[in-house]
Amino acid sequence: MLNIRIEKTTAPKTKPTADNPLKFGTIFTDHMFIMNYATGKGWHDARIVPYQPVVLDPAAMVFHYGQEMFEGLKAYKSDDGRVLLFRPDMNAKRTNNTNKRLCIPEIPEEDFVQAVKELVKLEQDWIPTKPGTSLYVRPFIIATDPFLGVRPSDTYQFIIILSPVGAYYPEGLNPVKIWIEDDYVRAVRGGIGEAKTGGNYVASMAAQLKAHEEGYSQVLWLDGVERKYIEEVGAMNIFFKINGTVITPALNGSILPGITRNSVIALCKEWGVPVEERKVSVDELYEAAKNGTMEEVFGTGTAAVISPVGHLRFQDQVMQIQDGGIGELSQKLYDTVTGIQLGKIEDNRGWAVEVK
Ligand code: PLP
Ligand code: COI
Repeated sequence: MLNIRIEKTTAPKTKPTADNPLKFGTIFTDHMFIMNYATGKGWHDARIVPYQPVVLDPAAMVFHYGQEMFEGLKAYKSDDGRVLLFRPDMNAKRTNNTNKRLCIPEIPEEDFVQAVKELVKLEQDWIPTKPGTSLYVRPFIIATDPFLGVRPSDTYQFIIILSPVGAYYPEGLNPVKIWIEDDYVRAVRGGIGEAKTGGNYVASMAAQLKAHEEGYSQVLWLDGVERKYIEEVGAMNIFFKINGTVITPALNGSILPGITRNSVIALCKEWGVPVEERKVSVDELYEAAKNGTMEEVFGTGTAAVISPVGHLRFQDQVMQIQDGGIGELSQKLYDTVTGIQLGKIEDNRGWAVEVK
């Protein structure tokens, strides 16, 4: 159990009004959580302080070798005023899996969840309540040793910031257009693809710009070796409903193990919808789109929730998904996941965690 010191701001910010569209990740709350790590001392000095710049030595290792990780989860306010988090224990577990891969010291799961809860509790008046909005929680860790040699740092900062957000994609629940990339790759097995770290996102940017220039909002990555099998999208996992079966790429080491992905698979199983986690080739998708068995395509992620895909392009082949609207299963998953997140649907799975 952390002993968290709280220093409150003396200059609270003006909160966004209910008609603010809350462009993703642009507004930050009054306070942040920080905790330090030093070899021999462990994690220490947990505190919540006014939101402020982080001052680091220019030689801090995070600036040079990218030893850093981040997480993403959301807090919601239910109609009866409860503050809810969605499966924060999964973010804590994934943090430690990422940390192991990046040689960052682990954080006890209960300390991670406690830090998120205490900050969200203090900032609960910042949780927006308009449909489609939430308070995005961004925990991250940076390596801070002032040292230019390549080795794991001996000191770190674990920080949590909060941002009231609306939809991640400007399209909202309208289907997005996705570009299947055949030149750049995001990750390969044995690399850092399954870790949640900045390096994977900077690796994705050139392809994202290329896709934007072509009028596409996101990139769908292929495997880095054969460039044949589907992996995931820039900020979400991907699902295909083909001939009644829901198919998603198996976790193979280069894909981020999404918490929304895990929840969607569990819900489909509960509902008796057949689900397969396996390799899916781009040829299989093209064939299904051509012969009319491709029923739905959707992405899953914390920021993106359930995001229907209406159009896929691979080289000069275009796959139009049904009539370009949201599919029946995608809509049911969206309603169920957001219903649990908002405390509207009874949750017997322990997914909605109350902040008290
Ligand atoms: N894949 C990538 C690359 C992501 O950035 C995200 C977002 O976190 C996801 C998948 C979806 O993961 P989750 O559902 O845990 O948010
Ligand atoms: C999230 O969905 O939480 C993410 O981390 C995606 C992010 C790149 C915006």
